[in-house]
Amino acid sequence: MRPLRIAVTKGRLEKKAANLFTTMGLDCARFNAKGRKLIVPVDDYEVVIAKAADVITYVEQGACDIGIVGKDTIVEYAAEIYETTDLGFGKCFFALAAEKGKHFYEGYNKKVIATKYPNVARKFFEGKGMDVRIIKIEGSVELAPLLGLADAIVDIVETGTTLRENGLEVVEEIMPVSARIIVNIASMKMRKEEIESFLADAETAKEFIE
Ligand code: PRP
Repeated sequence: MRPLRIAVTKGRLEKKAANLFTTMGLDCARFNAKGRKLIVPVDDYEVVIAKAADVITYVEQGACDIGIVGKDTIVEYAAEIYETTDLGFGKCFFALAAEKGKHFYEGYNKKVIATKYPNVARKFFEGKGMDVRIIKIEGSVELAPLLGLADAIVDIVETGTTLRENGLEVVEEIMPVSARIIVNIASMKMRKEEIESFLADAETAKEFIE
């Protein structure tokens, strides 16, 4: 049988995931020195580094058994996976944001919203019974209102620095976000013991990571 595969989201969550593994007592030497390698052994596991949306895809399709990914990506993609653990790191929140002092809700024109998370944005405005036009942007969404493309954005805010430095402000907080462990549905049945042991160790370790 192949080693259990854990997909870790590339970027901000990578370092925290390494801390988690180390605290779980796993040998992260090769993970910490991985350079541009995309699959690295961590003890008896195989760790795969992928973009957030691909972590969801690999876990949903069973190419990886376990994933570490933000709740933002989980809600956006609504995949058929188990979400087992709130890791408590990678904390940020979904927000509606607009240019400072803009009074987003005023006026009767149909509002244009730029976002990397069209499903989250659609649901948020459906919940308000508000008809908006959503434009999908791949990154640095804060640009869209500054360039006159959108009235507001739906994006994640961590420190608020990006908004502040670009003259934007939170209009409304939508939902809190943090890193989660997700598990493939078939793996949870087929490799129950191994996965439950990983989850139990992660649950204990998460309290001790900085
Ligand atoms: C995220 C998010 C904001 C920024 C928020 O982008 O989309 O732009 O971080 O963080 P802050 O509140 O601490 O400033 P990320 O850096 O992941 O890059 P991207 O915009 O290219 O996706």
